[in-house]
Amino acid sequence: MSNLKGKTVVLGVTGSIAAYKAAIIASQAVQAGAEVHVVMTEAATHMVGPPIFAALTHRPVVTDFWETRGMADIAHVTLGRAADLVIIAPLSANTLAKLALGLADNELTALCLSTRAPLLLAPAMETGMWQHPATQDHLAALQSRGVHIVTPGGGYLASGASGVGRLAEPLVILDAARTVLGQRGDLAGRRLIVTSGGTREALDPVRYITNQSSGKMGLAIAEAARDRGAVVTFIHTTDLPTPYGATEVRVASAAELDQAVLDHLAAADALIMAAAPADFTPAQRAEHKIKKTADNTEGLTLHLARTRDILRDVADWRAAHETTRRRVVVGFAAETQNLLDNARAKLASKDLDLIVANPVPQTFGSDMVQATFLDRTGGITPLEPMPKEALAERILDEVTARLAPST
Ligand code: CTP
Repeated sequence: MSNLKGKTVVLGVTGSIAAYKAAIIASQAVQAGAEVHVVMTEAATHMVGPPIFAALTHRPVVTDFWETRGMADIAHVTLGRAADLVIIAPLSANTLAKLALGLADNELTALCLSTRAPLLLAPAMETGMWQHPATQDHLAALQSRGVHIVTPGGGYLASGASGVGRLAEPLVILDAARTVLGQRGDLAGRRLIVTSGGTREALDPVRYITNQSSGKMGLAIAEAARDRGAVVTFIHTTDLPTPYGATEVRVASAAELDQAVLDHLAAADALIMAAAPADFTPAQRAEHKIKKTADNTEGLTLHLARTRDILRDVADWRAAHETTRRRVVVGFAAETQNLLDNARAKLASKDLDLIVANPVPQTFGSDMVQATFLDRTGGITPLEPMPKEALAERILDEVTARLAPST
């Protein structure tokens, strides 16, 4: 569940050709459960009509500074107070300059001065305007005041040229909004490692052995943790995207995953080991592609060696390094039989705080999962079937409850 749910979001739209893309932001934010109020500058109304935003948000659009509404309903004051977040997308060079100088000549700029909500700006302009020292100085001034910026990307611009200045993708802007809102969440500032996906154990330069883990569970946990304010290191093996704001570490094999986890452990408050590392890896990786030859007409025998148990390595590291502050470590038990007995044994042998037991193969690739939590005190909590996003929240609730007080 997105942390936009129930939040009051002011979406400012300024005079940039990309103004039409703000409709996607408005619509997606509404669908995520936010109360969205759109405030347009006059220039923006020449680019795209306010009725689009009124229809998408089911609310009137604020456009006119001088509209008579009575003193009790001055939009820039009432909306500024109500807002949990102010997004301006697209932000023109002109409004960017006004914000840096603290001008208040329209409803949007006045609102930005009066509100104490965090401000997220997504500039969009022609390359020369973006690169101009005046724009860059204004940007630096805003950043030094704690304003959040989603920098424009490169690519095709309305002028027909190609360059920097293109509005960031609407979904990236929404992810940035979730990241900013998360900074007030219950995991604010906590450092979490989340691992995800099945590892790839190379046989030769073109082939590997892997498993059916899709990486969806780990991704859901990483996103939810980011939305609750955690500083997330996402160590993963799949082509799924890394959540906006998380630090990505891409690995392939179980040995690389092991090393990456140990490298990041010292700085972490918690580790959630949703990855499915291989237990066996080819004892030798062929230097060249394995060919069909006279020697293997009857078939090919592969010799596999055991990989290291990463959570066991983590337990050993903790035993050697942890004195007062204990990290929270969560593992998963993916089982085709004897789910709870196997999970209980893994909880003990890997010295975990919590294990999430789930039956496979039905959860691989699926969006739904029916899990059971087992903890080190002997507690067993069977959960109803739920989407992986909901399970991610439940796992994070358990992590939050077990975290050492922040120093
Ligand atoms: N795990 C690990 N290192 C491995 C294999 C698994 O750290 N080499 C972790 C997984 O990320 C998961 C937990 O251990 O959090 C349990 O994984 P699972 O595959 O269910 O169990 P295994 O440890 O592989 O044990 P078994 O072979 O008995 O199923």
